Amino acid sequence: MRSFWFNKLSVIFGPRPPVSWLLLCLVSLLALIAVLGSSSSNAFDSVTPTPVPDIYLNYRRLKEQAAVDYLELRSLSLGASRQRELGLCGKERENYVPCYNVSANLLAGFKDGEEFDRHCEVLRDRNRCLVRSPKDYKSPLRWPAGRDVIWSGNVKITKDQFLSSGSMTKRLMLLEENQIAFHSEDGLIFDGVKDYSRQIAEMIGLGSDSDFLQAGVRTVLDIGCGFGSFGAHLVSLKLMAVCIAAYEATGSQVQLALERGLPAIIGSFISRQLPYPSLSFDMVHCAQCGIVWDKKDGILLIEVDRVLKPGGYFVLTSPSGKLHGTAVGKRKRNVLTPMEELTQEICWSLLAQQDETFIWQKTVDSDCYASRKQSAIPLCKEGHDVQSYYQPLVSCISGTSSKRWIPIQNRSAGSQLSASELEVHGVLPDNFFEDLRVWRSALKNYWSLLTPLIFSDHPKRPGNEDPLPPFNMIRNVMDMNAHYGGLNAAFLEEKKSVWVMNVVPIRARNTLPLILDQGFTGILHDWCEPFPTYPRTYDMLHANGLLSHLSSESCSAIDLFLEMDRMLRPEGWVVLSDKVGAIEMARMLATQIRWEARVIDLQNGSDQRLLVCQKQFIKK
Ligand SMILES: *[C@@H]1O[C@H](CO)[C@@H](O)[C@H](O)[C@H]1NC(C)=O
Ligand SMILES: *[C@@H]1O[C@H](CO)[C@@H](O)[C@H](O)[C@H]1NC(C)=O
Ligand SMILES: *[C@@H]1O[C@H](CO)[C@@H](O)[C@H](O)[C@H]1NC(C)=O
Repeated sequence: MRSFWFNKLSVIFGPRPPVSWLLLCLVSLLALIAVLGSSSSNAFDSVTPTPVPDIYLNYRRLKEQAAVDYLELRSLSLGASRQRELGLCGKERENYVPCYNVSANLLAGFKDGEEFDRHCEVLRDRNRCLVRSPKDYKSPLRWPAGRDVIWSGNVKITKDQFLSSGSMTKRLMLLEENQIAFHSEDGLIFDGVKDYSRQIAEMIGLGSDSDFLQAGVRTVLDIGCGFGSFGAHLVSLKLMAVCIAAYEATGSQVQLALERGLPAIIGSFISRQLPYPSLSFDMVHCAQCGIVWDKKDGILLIEVDRVLKPGGYFVLTSPSGKLHGTAVGKRKRNVLTPMEELTQEICWSLLAQQDETFIWQKTVDSDCYASRKQSAIPLCKEGHDVQSYYQPLVSCISGTSSKRWIPIQNRSAGSQLSASELEVHGVLPDNFFEDLRVWRSALKNYWSLLTPLIFSDHPKRPGNEDPLPPFNMIRNVMDMNAHYGGLNAAFLEEKKSVWVMNVVPIRARNTLPLILDQGFTGILHDWCEPFPTYPRTYDMLHANGLLSHLSSESCSAIDLFLEMDRMLRPEGWVVLSDKVGAIEMARMLATQIRWEARVIDLQNGSDQRLLVCQKQFIKK
């Protein structure tokens, strides 16, 4: 237990008598203020307008002052100098994504493509600085306008990348002065994406693509998503389509998709499993995604099978004859191509083939595997991928004995899980619905706090006036410790036009399967490591209890906050909810990384506090 938090917090119980004595006085003072302060009404339950007691503000200010004094006193007593604001990184770091330094990976001995994989263990740069925004960075347009038009100065892309006629989804891009426009919805330029989506629907036997949901297709993993136009179309059909693509230094598909307000994550099919449990997605889509599916004995295809739910679809679009060495279309009589052989072995059936598109369906019948030939790819041992966090790829079939083996066509309609579905996840309906109730009211409160006014000298008390909507667009939200996904559910109920990346920290209870089964997106993540995304890709970060959770781990809190700053768009928001000790610590760190920050006291006698922060738009 040599963790950062532990050291800081343990100071209170430190051995040196004079310091302890001073601290005891301060703690008493704080306690006294807390008692006096708690006599004013709850900051969160004042729905009916009541006059703001000035005394409340004074006490709060006094309390904050006392807390600051306490921290300064402590750092003095430790002989440490006052912590200063961190500086900005150099211009070369504007689009910095840690863990993907190819030259460093090569130096470390990774080869055969593994140098392009995520390697956080290689060379963690200890130079702590704030990733700066490009010179001509502008706040993105609000959703949905921002889906179709982005500022070209916000993303790293070369002129050649605009002009290269890549896949169908890439050709939909036009450059207008300092903007990039994607004409996907109105069909002004090409109607390719709509036609393509309709074609896929027809190939799996549906009347049109608006029937996807009814047919059990809610979540789609889109591998190598071009610039996100197919995903944008699926999102308009109320599907959760998440783009996954390898790290790219320029013209990144993931950076563009996120800039458009579409779910995306950096991830690659190289040598490790994706950070998802088995049986996660209803459809996996690859249109010219550059992966050779039948190489290495099909180990990459087996990974797709792992994350695909029973009855789910694998859609592959690739120019015929160019299906990387296999040519499913051009078969010799009675001789199976490697792709045909592989898909049979993993119990997929080829549903349809049209033009350059092939669709396979994973079996709904877990007995299918028993009826294969002896030499076929074996089944994995039970429970091997419970917490699959970048584990090496395996050549065995996962999930066949899981309680979550439920064909997508058999799922109950709507996003609300039934009691029996909750039981599969070991969750009691009472707990689940109580959690949702808590998040409904928490979201209303958060939303009313997200206004720059709360940082003014006369903070608006939440609930006193009609809550203002946030001045800035909020579209990409990350819940850094998502639990059951309650915040996501509350956002949906409130019909806010956001999507949530639900992150389940490793070593916390693995609720990711429950989150995904609600039709949300999410990912497992170790918060002692950088998150696989580009800088400035989230508008709001939320973390409930994460700091307390991390207090038992030996990673640095300042690095976590720097990483949050990297992910956050200028003028983006951070909402942290935690125990008072962790929040005071967070407040100090927030100052170091130049966030505006304010502690909100819930004043219901609990030791929970909120810290609402806004990243400044540092103009140079
Ligand atoms: C990547 O690694 C190389 C070699 O170790 C190093 O010189 C370079 O500064 C690193 N780049 C970044 C962006 O950290
Ligand atoms: C799925 O539904 C079909 C038809 O209603 C039923 O025959 C089958 O047993 C169900 N499968 C599972 C695993 O519940
Ligand atoms: C106080 O409010 C917070 C947030 O609504 C809640 O999580 C906590 O349980 C409450 N504490 C008590 C003692 O009621």
